[in-house]
Amino acid sequence: MADKIVKLGVIGLGNIAQQHINNVLQGEVENTKLTAVCSRQQTPNDLEGVRHFSCYKALIDSGIVDAVLIATPTMSHFEISQYALQKNIHVLLEKPIGLSSFEGEQLVASVQPGTQFALMLNQRTDANYVKIKQIVDSGVLGEITRTHWTMTNWFRPEIYFQASDWRATWKGEGGGALVNQCIHNIDIFQWICGIPASINGFCEFGKYHDIEVEDEVTAYFRYTNKATGVFVASTGESPGVNRFDIIGDKGSLHFEPGKLIQKLNGQSTQAFSRNTTDMFGMPEVEITDITANEKVNQHAIILNNFVRAILFGETLMTPAQAGLASLDIANGILMSSWTNQQVKLPFDRKAYQQQLEQKIASSKLRVKSNIQATVDMSKSYR
Ligand SMILES: NC(=O)c1ccc[n+]([C@@H]2O[C@H](COP(=O)([O-])OP(=O)(O)OC[C@H]3O[C@@H](n4cnc5c(N)ncnc54)[C@H](O)[C@@H]3O)[C@@H](O)[C@H]2O)c1
Repeated sequence: MADKIVKLGVIGLGNIAQQHINNVLQGEVENTKLTAVCSRQQTPNDLEGVRHFSCYKALIDSGIVDAVLIATPTMSHFEISQYALQKNIHVLLEKPIGLSSFEGEQLVASVQPGTQFALMLNQRTDANYVKIKQIVDSGVLGEITRTHWTMTNWFRPEIYFQASDWRATWKGEGGGALVNQCIHNIDIFQWICGIPASINGFCEFGKYHDIEVEDEVTAYFRYTNKATGVFVASTGESPGVNRFDIIGDKGSLHFEPGKLIQKLNGQSTQAFSRNTTDMFGMPEVEITDITANEKVNQHAIILNNFVRAILFGETLMTPAQAGLASLDIANGILMSSWTNQQVKLPFDRKAYQQQLEQKIASSKLRVKSNIQATVDMSKSYR
């Protein structure tokens, strides 16, 4: 196996790209050689021997890469991925797949057989989310009746936005908290609990920050089986919480970072309700702490899988099309909020794209602040 190598180019040299590069250089990714990088800034000294390009097309056409990891601002995801896919270069794209699911759908449709196209949905490797998914899929909770995810733990101070020209602008990323930070949570939410049939969204735009996009979100989901879901998010609260509750007819799961609690009734709550003669009775419950304490290198797992898919035909854990549903939901919450109407799914991606283009037409990239921001990426993951 050691003789098989993917020659990787990284496009973008910002916050997250540095982390991917470190993973490769520190040996966290097998069968991979970093051969090229592309950015608008200089190559750091520790990338000696790695060819630097200032134009992504030149990198893709250079003949020295089999695959690219695209870690540029979201507004360029469509253009750069489309160019690479046309040239049959394998692509691992940072989330989200594009400014909208309309863009993502076109990218997915353009993939040629034999070319791998994956998306960095790294939180799907989180041990607790994996465990929650296994339990829900096993059916032990019975039919899901209600869910509630409060993700207000994405606090971002003003400098996070002001230090970049693209973040939290319609033009630069097609939204704010929903498409940037929360796309991870919405992806996990729909991966585990399915896609709702309708969405009512209520967003606050620039409530906590000097930005034009949403920084506080409340959404109400309804599913075909009458299950209901609530998603609440904020980038303006501190300290926020990350609290995910899944209620089924036979039991429930309750997650907070570092704590996963399972409550099993051992029988159907509905059946108990209909059969008991005890006016204040409740089903017996068995409560177990099932927290998964295993910490994993999420980004490296996805990158290793991408490389093995190229070299050995392993199935992609996060194929790019897996990123469409979460973006449909994020876009649907925005659409509902703009129109003050319920949005039905399957989502009208084209109608959303037209609305987004109007927002983009009156949006400008920001002039970056001169203040030097300090960056510790390990604090960015919640
Ligand atoms: N999966 C995760 O955990 C995670 C974490 C952070 C960011 N992200 C995603 O990664 C992307 C980048 O975010 P970031 O915080 O690293 O951004 P950043 O602003 O820190 O870095 C962006 C980099 O892209 C380069 N760039 C911009 N336009 C380019 C172009 N046309 N060609 C080549 N290079 C170009 C810039 O020079 C810069 O080096 C975003 O889409 C973001 O949502 C994902």
